[in-house]
Amino acid sequence: DRPAMVVAIDGPAAAGKGTLARGLARQLGFAYLDSGSLYRAVGAKVLAEGGDPADDETAARVAEALQPADLERPDLRSEAVGRAASLVAAKPRVRAALLAFQRHFAASPPDGKAGAVLDGRDIGTVVCPDAPAKLFVDASVEIRARRRMEELRQTGADAIYAAVLADLKERDERDRNRAVAPLKPADDAELLDTTDLGIEEALETALRIVRRKTGLAVTKQA
Ligand code: CDP
Ligand code: CDP
Repeated sequence: DRPAMVVAIDGPAAAGKGTLARGLARQLGFAYLDSGSLYRAVGAKVLAEGGDPADDETAARVAEALQPADLERPDLRSEAVGRAASLVAAKPRVRAALLAFQRHFAASPPDGKAGAVLDGRDIGTVVCPDAPAKLFVDASVEIRARRRMEELRQTGADAIYAAVLADLKERDERDRNRAVAPLKPADDAELLDTTDLGIEEALETALRIVRRKTGLAVTKQA
């Protein structure tokens, strides 16, 4: 058996990582893991039990007991949970508890798939440093706030631009400046700025990069 091929996608909040990673996984026939959902699940469970996501002991206990069913919680996409996720994500014990699952997913993708696409903040730097293809997806914070607003509105939530913008800035700042696994491009990552790119254009560009980095023959399908 050939080792699984890994595509690592990192970047700040609402840059378009998930949309891109899902599209790449579909085109390549790979499995997809949204690593942010692990941190969101920990944050959501801490909030649901009335705990403080900034408390080390609480966050570590919840992360160490996380179950697959927790990833199916309906409240994972809210801004409150995103904020709690970035608080628990700064804690070394939380990150350590979630690492083995992510590495196992990358090394042995489910359903016998030949590879995996993972997205997050530290996939190319910490989780899968040997991934042959790494993308760092970015976009201006203003366009990211607009996109996130649009998403929240579609779920029926009330979204105020200034609040979403402030929230993204605060979360990015915390993710970039934490001591453990901070958000930053891996030395061998390709930067992909999606500020002026539509979803299809971003996917085409990413496919070209993956093809060049891996030698995989990927032809975009309709
Ligand atoms: O995973 P991440 O938080 O980085 O972002 P996402 O959930 O993939 O994308 C956030 C929103 O931006 C989604 O509603 C996408 O449809 C939208 N988007 C876009 O308008 N243009 C892109 N090039 C990428 C994403
Ligand atoms: O969708 P969005 O980009 O807003 O966030 P997410 O990818 O769901 O991640 C939520 C939070 O989890 C982030 O703000 C990070 O603090 C944390 N996270 C992380 O630390 N490492 C990862 N590999 C993925 C997410």
